[in-house]
Order: sequence, then structure tokens, then C-alpha cells
Amino acid sequence: MRIDIITVVPQLMKSPLHESIMKRAQEKELVDIHFHDLRDYSKGNYRQVDDAQYGGGAGMVLMIEPIDKCISKLQSERDYDEIIYMTPDGETLNQKMCNTLSLKKNLIILCGHYKGVDQRVRDLFITREISIGDYVLSGGELGACVLVDAIVRLLPGVLNDETSALYDSFQDDLLAPPVYTRPEEYKNLKVPGVLLSGNFAKIDEWRQEMSYKHTLDKRPDLLKDE
Ligand code: ADE
Repeated sequence: MRIDIITVVPQLMKSPLHESIMKRAQEKELVDIHFHDLRDYSKGNYRQVDDAQYGGGAGMVLMIEPIDKCISKLQSERDYDEIIYMTPDGETLNQKMCNTLSLKKNLIILCGHYKGVDQRVRDLFITREISIGDYVLSGGELGACVLVDAIVRLLPGVLNDETSALYDSFQDDLLAPPVYTRPEEYKNLKVPGVLLSGNFAKIDEWRQEMSYKHTLDKRPDLLKDE
């Protein structure tokens, strides 16, 4: 998979996407992530990428020309499955969307900043608008990091134990079961006996039951279609 990220602050994203599992995924060449600084596509000495909004009002708006130049250049090099815009008024990100996007080959992610982008960018280029939740961040960059992390960890070979993503919260609309590690007992709190039994059918059954209970308790809304 290849992901091209267009932003005015690439340095904001480099560290979260160059550590731990994301770093390993790139080293193993399971994903190829490229950053494009929008200022490299701007005109003039000031490298202007934003301007005041028509009609007045506070806040700057990202201009269409540099974004058009950047996206058009990328599109001249390869086909893209989706051109995503990170914005608080987009579709709220969930696991199902991450699963779908993890099957794509080439993605562009455009990060909004300041007041957002000129509406014509959205009308002309964007195929999908994604929000990471009902709150406003100072730009789309942190949201894009969340999106990329959630997608990339699903790519085959990224996680050491390939099956471990199957037990994630939200796969099958259930939260993950509780997990334990050593010691077996800590301040009178014991690891449930079934996990020490070595009976994997029973362990599986217990995990499924706990997943269901956990979901009923914390997020009953996830069970509403059953
Ligand atoms: N940009 C600003 N707020 C955002 C949000 N909640 N999700 C995605 N992009 C954003």
C-alpha cells in the first residue's frame, strides 16, 4: 500500500508515523508513506498556501491552486483509490471503514488546517471525508496519523501475530476481552483460572463471553442491531 499525505506541517506527523509498529511496517516495505509539503506547490517567495475567506470572517482558508498542483502531480504518476480529506464534518471513523481502506492500494490524505480548504477542492477532488470524532483539532494532521495507524496495523504482516487484530475491540462490533500477564496473583487479584487451564476451546469461549459482557456493560449501542 502507498499513502501520500498532503499537509502544511509535515513535521507534525513524522514522529508518530516513524516509531514502533508504523516504523516496522515501513521498514518491511508493507506500506510506503510519503509526505508532501503544500508550500512546495505554492507560488512566490512567501510560499503562500492560504488566504482570507470571501465574505469576511476570522480564519484563513487553504487555497485551491497548490492543492490542485500537488494532487494533479500525484495523479499523473499513478491511480488513486481514494482521495481523503480530514475534517470534523466528515464521516466519523470506525473500524469498518479502516478495514475497507486497508484493502486499497493507493490513498491520498489531505489535511485541512486553519479554517479548512476552499470548498472547490472538496467538490473537485475529494472522494471521502473523514472525521476522527466530534471535536475540533487545530488541523487534520493528528487525525490523519490516527487514520494511517488504524489502517496500516491491519495490513498482512504488520502485526507479529497475524491473528491478533482479529481480537481487537470493534472487530465484529464487540469490545476486546480483558487480558492478563504475569504475575498470576497481585495484591489478592488473581488471573481467571480458565486462562491458566491450557484448554484453548474453553479459553476461546471465555473470551467471547467476556467480550459480549464487556460490550453490554460499556458500549451497549454496539449491540443494538442484534
Ligand atoms: N480536523 C480538525 N478536526 C478534525 C477531526 N475531528 N477529525 C478529522 N480532522 C479534523
